[in-house]
Amino acid sequence: MRRGEKWVLGLIAATVVVLMSWNAWKQTQSSKTDHRIPFYSTATPELAHAGSEIYREQRCKRCHSLWAVRDMMQAVPAPALDGIGSLRDETWLFGYLSAPDPQSILPSRLKPEYRMPSFADLPAKDRHTLAAYLASLKVEDWYLDESRKAECRKLTGKEC
Ligand code: HEC
Repeated sequence: MRRGEKWVLGLIAATVVVLMSWNAWKQTQSSKTDHRIPFYSTATPELAHAGSEIYREQRCKRCHSLWAVRDMMQAVPAPALDGIGSLRDETWLFGYLSAPDPQSILPSRLKPEYRMPSFADLPAKDRHTLAAYLASLKVEDWYLDESRKAECRKLTGKEC
C-alpha cells in the first residue's frame, strides 16, 4: 500500500468510528428525553371499566380526547383529558361534573354549543365513578409542565 492510500483508509476508518460514536451518543440522549407515552391510569380494572363505560355513554369524546381517541368530525378545542388527574383532584372533578353551571367554575371562551355541558342530572353514583376515574388519569412528572401548558392553551386560547 502506498502512503497516500494508507492515509485515505485511515481517514475513512476514523470517519466511521466518529459516526458510530455519534449515533450511539444520540441514542442515549433520545432515551433520556424519552419517547414513552407519559400518560397512565392508577384505576383498578373495575374502576377503569365502569368509568370508561360512563365516559362512552355520555359521549365525552364528542369534545375531548383521551388515550388518543376523539371524534374526528367535531373539532371542539376542549382540553385533553389525558393526565387530568395530575392537574385536578377528585373532589374538584366531582364538583365540576355536578355543577348546574360548569362555567361558573371554569369560564369558557367558546360558543355555548361547544362549552362543557352540566352533568348534574347524572346519578350521583355515576358522577362519583367518573370523577374517580378521571382522577386516576395521571401524567408522568417529566410531562406535567407540558400538560399544564396544553390545558391552559385550550382554556384561554393563548400561548401560556
Ligand atoms: C359539548 C362538548 C363537551 C362535552 C360533550 C364534554 N365536555 Fe368536558 N369540556 C368541554 C369544554 C369546552 C371544556 C373547557 C371549559 C369550557 O369551555 O366550558 C371542558 C372541560 C372539562 C373538564 C375540565 C378540564 C380542565 O382542564 O380542567 C373536564 C374534567 C371535563 N370537561 C370532563 C368531561 C367529561 C367527563 C365529559 C363526559 C361526561 C365531558 N367533559 C363532556 C366540552 C365538552
